[in-house]
Amino acid sequence: IPLDLCLCLDDFEKAAKAVLSKRAWTYYSSASENLHSFRLNRQDWERILFRPRVLRNVQRVNMQRKLLGHHSNLPLFIAPAALARLGHPDGELCLSRGASAYNIPFVVSNAASVSMEDLAESMQGAKGRGCLCLQLYVKKKKSETLASIVRAKQLGFTALLVTVDTPVVGKREDDDRYKAEQALETQGPRPPPPVTAEGIQQSLQRSSTDEVFVLRGPYSSTLDWNELAWIREAWGDDESFGLKGIATAEDAHLACESGIKRIYLSNHGGRQLDSAPSALRTLLEIRNLCPHVLQQCEVLVDGGVSRATDIIKALCLGARGVGLGRPFLYALSAHGTAGVCKAIQILSDELETSMRLLGVVDLDHLGPHLVNTRELDPF
Ligand code: FNR
Repeated sequence: IPLDLCLCLDDFEKAAKAVLSKRAWTYYSSASENLHSFRLNRQDWERILFRPRVLRNVQRVNMQRKLLGHHSNLPLFIAPAALARLGHPDGELCLSRGASAYNIPFVVSNAASVSMEDLAESMQGAKGRGCLCLQLYVKKKKSETLASIVRAKQLGFTALLVTVDTPVVGKREDDDRYKAEQALETQGPRPPPPVTAEGIQQSLQRSSTDEVFVLRGPYSSTLDWNELAWIREAWGDDESFGLKGIATAEDAHLACESGIKRIYLSNHGGRQLDSAPSALRTLLEIRNLCPHVLQQCEVLVDGGVSRATDIIKALCLGARGVGLGRPFLYALSAHGTAGVCKAIQILSDELETSMRLLGVVDLDHLGPHLVNTRELDPF
């Protein structure tokens, strides 16, 4: 699918599926067990309706917002997703270039396939537009975790987000099935080593995906609120520290009580505990049970976002910013940096149009009065 025919984010998914190796497609698209959370992520946005206001002058629209410590042009960011080089040889560089071109934050995965140094360098060329944040997986080896923190700090990353929903990796059966099929195949006669450019690319993809399967091992399963303290201390700045993967009002409250200023609601794109709630449901729970969290913390959400209307709904309900994972992986897989830029442009255009149709000219004027949550809200 040519770039000119990619008119909405879902078009990039189709375009990516057509070009990705089976291995890469499987890794990007998979989710855990029955895909219940994965599907819920997408469906729940549709269960919120707007209450559009009319007869308002909507000529000028302001879409800027301070997000992840950065004056962002849009209320959205690139969520951390591992191994972008599986989809495109430039990998995460496509994401950093897109983020700097549109001046939005990019949260770099701790399992990225381009080094933090190379990403920081690619942003410097862009004269301070966009910003880089690090998503951190706490490893079993403390020294490894510490090394990532120190490097991110030295490179000027503006925020640290510790992923807390991954004491172990979720059961993603598409990945497991693919692996089992490969194992069966390799029991037969081995093909000769690749000599074509395509073959080399495939073997590169193979070796980096092997890392994914190795990655399943070394996460810390002992991480708890106490252990978090040394990570906060190592980072050294509470204002730019946050947790990713909060899924209940209780944990949001606990985080807020302990002085954490940034809370990222997510079910990891449906890839961890199946039947975990969508971030949208957790956001509603927080609104009902501990609304002070929305005042005291920067609350971020992600999962299943495919339209700017989804972003607007999240902001109406108190989120400060919205992340997208797969859509950007698909965009870079299909069309590299140009794909990522087009995806952000589409979201920007949709955002402007939908805000006007909703009768709102500034993100700060979005609020709960503009949405009907009755279908989703049990309270
Ligand atoms: C992820 N996600 C993720 N999260 C994280 O904290 N560290 C990581 O390395 C990864 N890696 C990763 C790889 C892939 C292929 C996917 C699809 C997702 C989760 C990610 O940050 C985000 O929470 C979800 O992707 C959001 O859902 P959508 O936008 O993909 O629906």
